[in-house]
Amino acid sequence: MSEKFKVLAARRLPVDVAARLERDFDATLNQDDTRFSTEQLLEAAKGMDALMIAPSESMSAEILAQMPRSVRVIATVSVGHEHIDAAAATANGIIATNTPDVLTEATSDLGMLLLLAAARRAHEGQAMVRNNEWKGFAMDHNLGVDLMGKRLGVLGMGRIGQALAHRAAAFGMKIHYHNRNRLAADREAYAGNAIYHDNVDEFLGICDFLSIHSPLTPQTHKFLNTKRINAMPDGAIVVNTSRGGTINDEALIAALKSGKLRAAGLDVFDGEPNIHPGYRELDNVFMMPHVGSGTVETRNAMGYCALDNVEAVLAGRPAISPLNSL
Ligand code: 8YV
Repeated sequence: MSEKFKVLAARRLPVDVAARLERDFDATLNQDDTRFSTEQLLEAAKGMDALMIAPSESMSAEILAQMPRSVRVIATVSVGHEHIDAAAATANGIIATNTPDVLTEATSDLGMLLLLAAARRAHEGQAMVRNNEWKGFAMDHNLGVDLMGKRLGVLGMGRIGQALAHRAAAFGMKIHYHNRNRLAADREAYAGNAIYHDNVDEFLGICDFLSIHSPLTPQTHKFLNTKRINAMPDGAIVVNTSRGGTINDEALIAALKSGKLRAAGLDVFDGEPNIHPGYRELDNVFMMPHVGSGTVETRNAMGYCALDNVEAVLAGRPAISPLNSL
């Protein structure tokens, strides 16, 4: 029997994914989910053919330059790949891959949860019931706002943005979007007959709700700042399922405090899990701990997609979802 390829999983994998990894490869698992330091990761990578990582493992040019030569593929179990320098991977003879498509539906479901929770003051309602502070019915008690008829601005109309738009249109929202490029007509139709805005200020000006779906890049870093918030209608609602770094936290917190923005729904935070403490003091922010893709089915599909990529590259076939080419 030929020797199996050696694969290191830098984070704990879903049980079924780990089982397949152990069946088909000489697997090194991280069952305690201990976070590796860079030095530990480079040490553990010695003699490995492949690494499975998450956004918690930076693959900067500096780190990739020190990667053992045995490593031929690095598969991140995520669609986001801001932690991987793809050009540096190429320079070091490594194929990097991610897991697109399989988490589109779960992440856009969570986007709807955030839109609804922010609009309907779910955090305050939940706390009131849980803490036995509910005094009973009142005509003006804990009132939220409707989604029906409101304009939803989708920033970054990729797969997840389109799926969120599709869902929101079914709730009666009018879909607008800003993106590097206008979508093809059939994708605009799928995304609730979405209306394209080339001009970002004009786009922000119509956002009763804004949902952020852009990847974190130098161009989108701290995109939502005070100036851009001020360009939005008073009482608008902001939702983020992409990366926390797209928002200037001080600006968002100030706008939520002043009432310029009515509410926010956030699944991602700059510096997570060490989030800006100001968020914890606000009643009008509904927060989740970065679980956009956090369903059993989706995390399995992400793990299998990463494994398919590892298997393909090590067998000399093209990767399923490569981030670079050699
Ligand atoms: C992951 C994500 O849960 O895929 C992404 O980019 O942000 C989430 O789906 C997270 O990155 C852990 O891998």
